[in-house]
Amino acid sequence: MSQESWKSRTGFILAAAGSAIGLANIWRFPYMVGANGGAAFIAVYLLCLLAIGIPVFVSEILIGRSTQCAPRRAMAQLTAHSRLSFIGKWIGAIPVITGFLIASFYSAVAGWILGYLTEALAGRLTVFSNGNQAAVHFAALVANPFWGLLFHGLFIAICTGILLFGVRRGIERGSMIMMPLLYLLLTGFVIKGLTMSGASKGLQFLLTPDWKALTPTAILLALGQSFFTLSLGQGTMITYGSYLGRRQNILADTLPVILMDTLVSIMSAVAVMTIVFSVDLEPTAGEGLIFHTFPMVFSRVAGGYFLAVGFFLLVTLAAVTSEISAMEPLIAHLQQRGWGRKKAAAVCGLGAFTIGIPCALSFSSMKGITLFGMTAFDLMNTFCTSVLVPLGGLIAVLVIGWVWGWKNAGAQLVQGAEDTFNGRPWLKGYFWFCMKFLAPILIVVVFLHALNIL
Ligand code: PHE
Repeated sequence: MSQESWKSRTGFILAAAGSAIGLANIWRFPYMVGANGGAAFIAVYLLCLLAIGIPVFVSEILIGRSTQCAPRRAMAQLTAHSRLSFIGKWIGAIPVITGFLIASFYSAVAGWILGYLTEALAGRLTVFSNGNQAAVHFAALVANPFWGLLFHGLFIAICTGILLFGVRRGIERGSMIMMPLLYLLLTGFVIKGLTMSGASKGLQFLLTPDWKALTPTAILLALGQSFFTLSLGQGTMITYGSYLGRRQNILADTLPVILMDTLVSIMSAVAVMTIVFSVDLEPTAGEGLIFHTFPMVFSRVAGGYFLAVGFFLLVTLAAVTSEISAMEPLIAHLQQRGWGRKKAAAVCGLGAFTIGIPCALSFSSMKGITLFGMTAFDLMNTFCTSVLVPLGGLIAVLVIGWVWGWKNAGAQLVQGAEDTFNGRPWLKGYFWFCMKFLAPILIVVVFLHALNIL
């Protein structure tokens, strides 16, 4: 089976940005900023990107590009000449499994977004006169097991459909269409928000730096966010990196991805907060924001129908490009074992659908079935984002810095990027320090915090 590859540099950048830009940017980031110190939180978040986001991101791309292999074989190769050779394959299997599990439960919630897109199209999101009605409408839909399963299945079917076409004709071409559309829609929402009457109140909530709100927990949240939003620790970037040519300039290819992701987070924060405050609503955390507050907004402002359709289309696009990137590592792995693309994609899609069933039903018929007080969805979500994702990221930086060794990794990093590194010894020093020491330490800290040990 010959290795697949990106057709163009832009294709890679848009696909990787598509992976990074997801629900975490549009749904979680705006509220996080508002609740944790505004501009002060943004400043800390940018520092976290420098300390952990960028180094781990570059590490994963580097692992993929250097080995031209999916995560399991990549790790086996890089650890082959070390004392860890006996577990190389196994530590490489972890991110593949993580990506697949994330794809399974992410789809349960992404399915709601798709479901809300159809609600918006049917004109059912512009009829609320108070927030309670919107909440009741949402609760009724979510409590319906058929609704949950239907859209979970449809969402996975759309993503699998794209994946069937392969890297160039599926992921790359899809991203080339979906990402510009996403930016276009988001820009429209930013303009809409900024030109609404109460925009300044929203901007104030968002941007006034409140250094006191920057608690240690807030800082750990920023660290975790910088990690999750870049789709790290789940095999995605290793796999996407493996489709890059060995002489591509890694820095020139990855920095735009990080900038695009950050830009979407900040644009979403501005759009969400200016719009919500303009109609005298309070921003809320979690599902309340998208499924209660926004439909209220659409019911109050002129042109609400089109805003509702545009908004849920925007979030659907973001979710689809992330979901396909979580499924791709397993598909790449199966292909490397000699499976055909179509069979691998179909099996992966069916598998994610099946495993996602209890997650999709966690809000309706299986609500009462819990383990350690958590539903199937909560369990998967917590286990993946708090344990497996940090573990995957940790494995990547430890392999780079300590197992494969900085001498090899550093040489590979510079390959293709000679122009960027020439005359900038600090740049290599920065990656050396972060990949070898700072990022691993910070990941362990986030990990311990997530497990409530810190
Ligand atoms: N970066 C994604 C986001 O912001 C995280 C993710 C990627 C989640 C792939 C699921 C699948 O939502």
